[in-house]
Amino acid sequence: MKDISEFAKQSLGHFPTPLEPLFNLSRALAGPQIFVKRDDCTGLASGGNKTRKLEYLLGQALHQKADTLVTVGAVQSNHVRQTIAAAAKVGLRCEVLLLREVKRDQDYETNGNILLDRLMGATLHYCETSDDLNADGQRLADDLDRSGAKTFFIPAGGSNPIGSLGYVACARELVDQVMTEKLKIAGIFHATGSQGTQAGLLLGLALINNSTPVQGITVSRPGAQQVPLVLRLIRQTEHLLGCPATVDDKQVLCDGGYYEPGYGQPNAAMIEAVEICARLEGLFLDPVYSGKAMAGLIDHIRRGRYTANDTVIFLHTGGQTALSAYPSVFNTRQDGGR
Ligand SMILES: Cc1ncc(COP(=O)(O)O)c(C=O)c1O
Repeated sequence: MKDISEFAKQSLGHFPTPLEPLFNLSRALAGPQIFVKRDDCTGLASGGNKTRKLEYLLGQALHQKADTLVTVGAVQSNHVRQTIAAAAKVGLRCEVLLLREVKRDQDYETNGNILLDRLMGATLHYCETSDDLNADGQRLADDLDRSGAKTFFIPAGGSNPIGSLGYVACARELVDQVMTEKLKIAGIFHATGSQGTQAGLLLGLALINNSTPVQGITVSRPGAQQVPLVLRLIRQTEHLLGCPATVDDKQVLCDGGYYEPGYGQPNAAMIEAVEICARLEGLFLDPVYSGKAMAGLIDHIRRGRYTANDTVIFLHTGGQTALSAYPSVFNTRQDGGR
């Protein structure tokens, strides 16, 4: 079996990210102790979970002597913002295929992540629909190769077995912090979309014989549809590492109760979660991922899943740069009223 240290890696971020208590939120919910793992502070272009994946993906791209990164995502994709930044940092060109799947307003089209993408100067291509965005992105890469580029294609969310290694490594980092703080963790909550975060975390924990439950909160599909996708990526990553199946099917927990009406579309529970964390903790979540994941954690706590003696971790995967693409959604009145 290979150790992840055998894979090429390009340093891009700030690690380890802090593990901090959210005292005020814990008190307000009269629930368990809540800690936040600050992967929103990974440092690359405002941080987020993609930095960890990109360290391994860029390691591979540079090893293959690519000169151009190609990737895909939604107009407000955090992955796209961080990939463009990673390319800039190591001196590669970057071309992106953006899917206009979320129809909102002018702010969504021009503010938030897309503003930062343009600021960093990547070449952006748009499509209105796609049956398979990764396949369309790969076609763009093939076209560029035919005109002389040497591309490296990164799938949506950086979620392939190489990208997932970033969260295999994160599991070790987190367990070290938990041991240093002498904590006993009842569960880890996070947003799950393109699956690399959850797959890597579950595999990383399993590889160090740690069975802490990992509760994914889906952002784009029902839990029952997300579970097999996470499991498939776990099996592919196990294969890459040359290890036997270490994660049991039943360990893949995905709750699809908080994403509706759809990917990138606000709901009341997300708005409450974003506002409560801002007001009680000075902590910014995002409307698409971490806000919905926190809505899930808050609801699981309110339903009595944990006692006051338990400790849970919220893995903050970033995304706050999308907040300014959704200004009309939140209550920003100075008196705090509605
Ligand atoms: C801020 C944020 N959180 C969570 C996720 C979901 O992580 P994953 O795609 O690894 O499931 C994403 C993915 O795009 C993201 O941008």
